[in-house]
Amino acid sequence: MSPGRAPAPDSQFLPSEGVSGAASLHGEGRKRGGRDLTRHRPAARDRQGSTRETGSRSAEDGRDVGGNVYQQLVSQLHSSSGNTGEDVAVRMADIRRQLTEFQLHYKFGMDEVLTKINVLREEFEHTRDYSPIEHVNYRLKSLDRILDKVQRYGCEPTLESIRHSIRDIAGIRITCSFVSDAYWVAEMLCSQPDLRVVEVKDYISKPKVNGYQSLHVIVQVPVFLSNRTEFVYVEVQIRTVAMDFWASLEHKIYYTYDGEVPGDILDELRDAAVQAAALDAQMASIRDRVTALKDQAPVSGQGATGPTPSDRATAGPWFPSDDPMGTTWKWEDIARHAGGSDEAPQN
Ligand code: GTP
Ligand code: MG
Repeated sequence: MSPGRAPAPDSQFLPSEGVSGAASLHGEGRKRGGRDLTRHRPAARDRQGSTRETGSRSAEDGRDVGGNVYQQLVSQLHSSSGNTGEDVAVRMADIRRQLTEFQLHYKFGMDEVLTKINVLREEFEHTRDYSPIEHVNYRLKSLDRILDKVQRYGCEPTLESIRHSIRDIAGIRITCSFVSDAYWVAEMLCSQPDLRVVEVKDYISKPKVNGYQSLHVIVQVPVFLSNRTEFVYVEVQIRTVAMDFWASLEHKIYYTYDGEVPGDILDELRDAAVQAAALDAQMASIRDRVTALKDQAPVSGQGATGPTPSDRATAGPWFPSDDPMGTTWKWEDIARHAGGSDEAPQN
């Protein structure tokens, strides 16, 4: 394994085009322009020659998924569906219903957060001439990958335990132009009163040892079902274009070498991460210079280059004092409020 590196299902993320209700069940897919994106890239295990499919298929044909975790989950569901009679077909249908419902709630939660992001994005695009959000991708973890993780984490193979322990079943990735935008978007999102910020990891201020940079926020979003409200975990990753470029290449390399990346490539990757961070800093500096020039221009207006951190602090035109969300939190407050420190974990 490369240092500081968790298996990263990056290739599962799909682009969002500002549409909510976009995700399909059973892992990462929807149609766009008539093209089925569900399998637009192979899953990591596929590259290793196996023929694993998404969760629903596995539930139907009972193949060995995630070791015997799948069997354990099914037998737990089987014993908990005691009132469905002895008929195996009825019991299997009930198990399938429970699994589908389980995944559906994550889709609903992800859609809720995607809607919030799209509201921000469209508001910026239509009322200002700058948006801190470049693009948005999302994915639902397939049942196979959930079960892999259950096994890796030694978590109990019950839906209740999975719901509690695995917090990245619904994942959204927001890509921004500038580092300040990444924090700004995180602040806007985390300030929304119906989102519960559960955990934050700041891999921008403290990159992982392999060079990985990103902000990770785990939120719980209420999903209003017909008879109850479920609080669903959604993992939101926020990063710059440069960080995203690095992460997607590193992800491919990691899987190409099945986690055993040669030392010289790891060194190069670390160097590339430093260069990506330098590029981010340089772009921000150019942006600041252009913004300063615009401020001196006789015709005032909102610049096209976005806010600087000081704009945010002084509630300039980019960040009006009549902010409709009320008090917009700063990243440090979010990190503290999430129960952790603003220190990134050392993994
Ligand atoms: P997981 O078990 O994967 O959830 O890891 P974790 O609980 O330690 O969470 P962490 O926040 O560190 O990583 C979660 C996600 O961030 C991963 O699934 C990836 O999408 C991404 N990620 C984390 N580290 C790396 C990395 O080193 N490289 C890349 N490319 N992506 C990473
Ligand atoms: Mg994860």
